Amino acid sequence: MINHIIKTQSFSLEFMKDIFSQAKLFKYNKCVSNSLQGKIVAILFYEASTRTKLSFTSAILKLGGGVISTENASQFSSAAKGESLRDTIRNISAYCDCIVLRHKERGSAQEAAHFSTVPIINAGDGDGQHPTQSLLDLFTIKDELGSVDGITIILSGDLKHSRTIHSLAYLLGKFRSTTIIFAAPKGLEIPEDITDYLKRHDVEFHQTSSLIDAVENYKTNAVYHTRPQKERYETNDSVVSVEKYREQFTITRDLANKMDPDAIILHPLPRVDEIRYGVDDNHRAKYFVQSENGLYVRMALLNMLLGE
Ligand code: NCD
Repeated sequence: MINHIIKTQSFSLEFMKDIFSQAKLFKYNKCVSNSLQGKIVAILFYEASTRTKLSFTSAILKLGGGVISTENASQFSSAAKGESLRDTIRNISAYCDCIVLRHKERGSAQEAAHFSTVPIINAGDGDGQHPTQSLLDLFTIKDELGSVDGITIILSGDLKHSRTIHSLAYLLGKFRSTTIIFAAPKGLEIPEDITDYLKRHDVEFHQTSSLIDAVENYKTNAVYHTRPQKERYETNDSVVSVEKYREQFTITRDLANKMDPDAIILHPLPRVDEIRYGVDDNHRAKYFVQSENGLYVRMALLNMLLGE
């Protein structure tokens, strides 16, 4: 059976434990490995990316593997000539040992997995999921706070379109006694299939339309903020204006200082300006550590999937 990485609902606690302990070795013991020697990974990205693409590439090279890729696949792969994703995947899977795929359509990674003879790693499928991001998010929470069990976390911003939020909410549901506070502007609330999943799994959650209220009313261990995903808005979406978003959903120095002194602030990045630069030197700001952790977690994942 091929081990595809498509959605976080299918991750077991055991799987995460293994990834996190290996990632810790890469991070703190500067452990080196050549486990991908002789392996080729294809990076196939149809959407913009900085951290995911470069951290995957770096992880592959650090493990001694080779990388093939096409610059901006929607423009420079045969997709520009009208080729379907399934045909592209059928071909590319013959040239490599794994495909890291980012695509603008929700469900595309699942479709790719159906036609691939090698593992597909979903690096973001439209407004669907981004499972490797939530592995690095959870690794960061565990590394910074000591545990994921029992935490109270605010997930805020554009919860409707943010695939990192979707993946993370499902994953948090697997830990004991976590409480999630969803804070979203009207029209950008967390989708119902996720709240239904949390109800089925007895996860405590609350919803509010104000980040300020969430910070003031709950004692939280972490605040995970996101940008407005304007590129995913549909014409019939009734969403708040950018000005309103900025007014109600910006982490300023003052708001950061209202958080618990031990709380951490996370963001998958890129930020637009929903976390002010002035917050960066606050001891709670962990988003740059979080993006660095992406390298170690992706090394651990590739090592597990492809290492000898
Ligand atoms: C996120 C993504 O692509 O979903 N970025 C990332 O991979 N770190 C978040 C975003 O684009 O807002």
